[in-house]
Amino acid sequence: MEIPSLKDAAKRSKNEIKIQNYSSTNSSIGIGKKYYVKTYGCQMNEHDSENIRAILEEMGFREASDYINADLIILNTCAIRENAHNKVFGFLGRLKHLKREKPSLMIGMCGCMAQEEVVVNEIMDKYKWLNFVFGTHNIHKLSSILTTAVERQKQEIEVWSKEGDILENMPVKRDSNIKAWVNIMYGCDKFCTYCIVPFTRGKQRSRRKEDIIEEVKSLVKSNYKEVTLLGQNVNAYGKDFIDEEYNMANLLEDVAKTGIERVRFVTSHPWDFTDNMIDVIASYKNIMPYIHLPIQSGSNKILKLMGRRYKKEDYIELFNKIKSKIPNVSITTDIIVGFPNETEEDFNETLDIVNYCKFDLAYTFIYSKREGTPACKLLDPISLDEKEKRLYKLNELINSYAKMNNEKLVGKTVPVLIEGVSEKDNNKICGYTDTMKLVNILGTKDLIGKIVMVKITDAKSFSLDGEIING
Ligand code: SAH
Ligand code: SF4
Ligand code: F3S
Repeated sequence: MEIPSLKDAAKRSKNEIKIQNYSSTNSSIGIGKKYYVKTYGCQMNEHDSENIRAILEEMGFREASDYINADLIILNTCAIRENAHNKVFGFLGRLKHLKREKPSLMIGMCGCMAQEEVVVNEIMDKYKWLNFVFGTHNIHKLSSILTTAVERQKQEIEVWSKEGDILENMPVKRDSNIKAWVNIMYGCDKFCTYCIVPFTRGKQRSRRKEDIIEEVKSLVKSNYKEVTLLGQNVNAYGKDFIDEEYNMANLLEDVAKTGIERVRFVTSHPWDFTDNMIDVIASYKNIMPYIHLPIQSGSNKILKLMGRRYKKEDYIELFNKIKSKIPNVSITTDIIVGFPNETEEDFNETLDIVNYCKFDLAYTFIYSKREGTPACKLLDPISLDEKEKRLYKLNELINSYAKMNNEKLVGKTVPVLIEGVSEKDNNKICGYTDTMKLVNILGTKDLIGKIVMVKITDAKSFSLDGEIING
C-alpha cells in the first residue's frame, strides 16, 4: 500500500527524468470479463483512459456497453474543482448499490483525485468496498495492481507522489480513428496559486521529439487526419532538455512536416508563447489557426494573487500579435470569477478585457478552493451568491461575442473535418472548422473522416449550420 502525500507531490528537483518502456502484461485475468472506464476531466485524462482501456484489453477484458453490465469499473477522475469531486462521489454512491447486488464486481479509482490525500483518506475511511486505487504516475502498473486486488480481496491502494517519469510504448485504444491525442509533455511547474494540477501530475517533463514524431508518423500511416498535442503548458515544451535546444516552435514545425492534415495543441500558457511559435503557426497550412489562451482574470491584482506571471497588458500585447500574424485565427480562453478578494472593480476589469478581446469562446468557472494549494489559505469575504451573479453576467457577454464571431462566418466557405453524425439530428453530420467551430451539415455518413468545404448558412452561440460545396 502506498498513499499520496501533497507535500511530496510539490517537491521539484533537478534530477534527470527517466524514460521507461512499458512492458506488456502476461496476466489474463480479464478473459471472459467486461470493463467500463468512466472518464472525468481534461483531454489528458481522456488520453490516459485510452491507455487504461488498452492495458485492460491486453489482460483479456473486453469493453462493456454500459457500466451496469461490467465486471470491472474504473473511474478516471479529475480534481480541478469541487464539482468534479462531487460528480465522482455521486457516481460512487450509485456504484455502492450495484456492488451490493453483485459482490464480484471490481471497482477502482484513478486519475487526479486519487493523487489527493483528502480523497484517499476518505476512501479508506468510508468507501472500504472500493477495490483499488492507483494514481497518474503508475497507470503502467495497472495489471499488477488489479491482480493483487483480486487475489488479496482487500482494498489495494497504490498512489505515488513523485515528480514522475516518462512512459514510452504504452498501449493505446483510441476513441476515434480520425483524430488522436498525442502527449508531448507531462506535469506542470507553474504552480498557479489556485491550481491542483502541479500536485496531481508531477514535474513538467517533455517527451523526446523522436518519440513524438514517430507516433505522429504512425498515425498518418493509419489514416488519422488530426493530432492534438497535449500538455498542461505546451509552450514550455523542451525547456527541461539538458542535452539539446529544441522547443515548441521546433516541434510544431516537425509535426507539421509529417504531413498530418491537421495539427492542434493545448494548452498554451501566455507566459511561454514565443514569436517563433507564432511564425511557425502562421506559415504552416496544416497547423490550425486556433489557440486556446487562458487569461483567468483581467485584473493585475488578481493575476498577481493567482501567480500567473503576466499582466493584462502582456496578455493584450500577445493577443494582438497573434491576431495580426495568423490570418483568421480564433482565440478562446479560460476565466475564473470570484477568486479570493476579487472586488467589483477587479471583475469589471475582466469584463473590460472580454470586451476588448471579443473571444471566440471562453470556459468560465467560479473559483473553487483546492486543499493544499496556496490560494486555499486566502480569506474570502465574497459570497457565493455574488460570485454566481458575476459568472452569469460574464457568460452573457461571452456568449454574445461567441455568436458575433460565428455570425461573421455566415456566407463564407470553410474547411470542416467531418467526425460523425450530429447529436441533435440523425440526418446531419458534424465536424469542426480549422478554427475549431462545430458545424452541423446535411450530408451522408460516407463523408465521415474527410475534410470537406462547407458554406456556412447559419450561426448560433455554440455551433454553425452549413452546406457542402461540391468540387
Ligand atoms: N494548464 C492550463 C489549465 C488547466 S486547468 C492553463 O494553465 O491554462 C483548466 C482551467 O481550469 C484553468 O485554465 C482554470 O481556468 C480552471 N481552474 C483551475 N483551477 C481552478 C480552481 N481551483 N477553481 C476554478 N477554476 C479552476
Ligand atoms: Fe494549473 Fe497554472 Fe499549471 Fe495551468 S499552468 S495546470 S492553471 S498550475
Ligand atoms: Fe482534471 Fe487532472 Fe486534467 S485535475 S483537468 S484531470 S490534469
